[in-house]
Amino acid sequence: GGDGRELAGRPPTVLVCADYAQMSDRAAAAVVEEVAAILARKGRTLVSFSVGGTLETLYGLLRTRYRHSVDWAKVVLVQMDEYLDLPPDSSYRNSCILIEKVTAPLGIRDVHLFDAEADVTDARLVAFEGRISALGGLDLALHGIGRNGHIGFNEPGSSFQSGARVVALAASTLEANSRFFPSADLVPRRAVTLGLALLGAARSSILLASGADKHAAVRQAILGPTTEQLPATVI
Ligand code: GLP
Repeated sequence: GGDGRELAGRPPTVLVCADYAQMSDRAAAAVVEEVAAILARKGRTLVSFSVGGTLETLYGLLRTRYRHSVDWAKVVLVQMDEYLDLPPDSSYRNSCILIEKVTAPLGIRDVHLFDAEADVTDARLVAFEGRISALGGLDLALHGIGRNGHIGFNEPGSSFQSGARVVALAASTLEANSRFFPSADLVPRRAVTLGLALLGAARSSILLASGADKHAAVRQAILGPTTEQLPATVI
């Protein structure tokens, strides 16, 4: 977890779990506990949830076991990242997955989605992110991690001061995410993402990783130096 960049480098709490199911279980409980604590304190909470294979079981647990554990209607959800160049009604859009698996079943109605049209400009994305900052910034960010250490779609080399913007996806990300698409050539080459400044300033961050292909990135994120070459080290 991080309390803003001034505390970057503070060691994270690391929980090692037996397997993917146990990790999802414990992380779902931690997310619910965190959301409940923030709601008790201020009556509303601003969260950003990433989309990917890692979080699927956790979202399933929120929809079932934890559907009535907190007042989800008081949660404001901000999209973390999105592909560009997909058709507007594509079911591969992260927005579509978030609505189907998280916000609709939980009854979260205050949802801030990216303008992910092909002609979107960095200026519009910065304005989107500015509205999130104006609401007080993120209380909780829920992350997976890329094989190369990316969070959101902030690929290695992203500035820790970066804002929301259009990005080109790294080769390793295109390859990893091709499993979600009918074929590798259908994976969009471009995306939009919240920047590392806003994500790094989240008052609480929870990052899940599972599988041997994440080992090197996780090891570096926990034990290595804070560096823009490993974006997850911003939290
Ligand atoms: C994806 C997403 C990230 C996610 C990460 C892990 O590309 N843009 O937000 O945290 O990479 O994804 P997965 O859980 O599918 O491995």
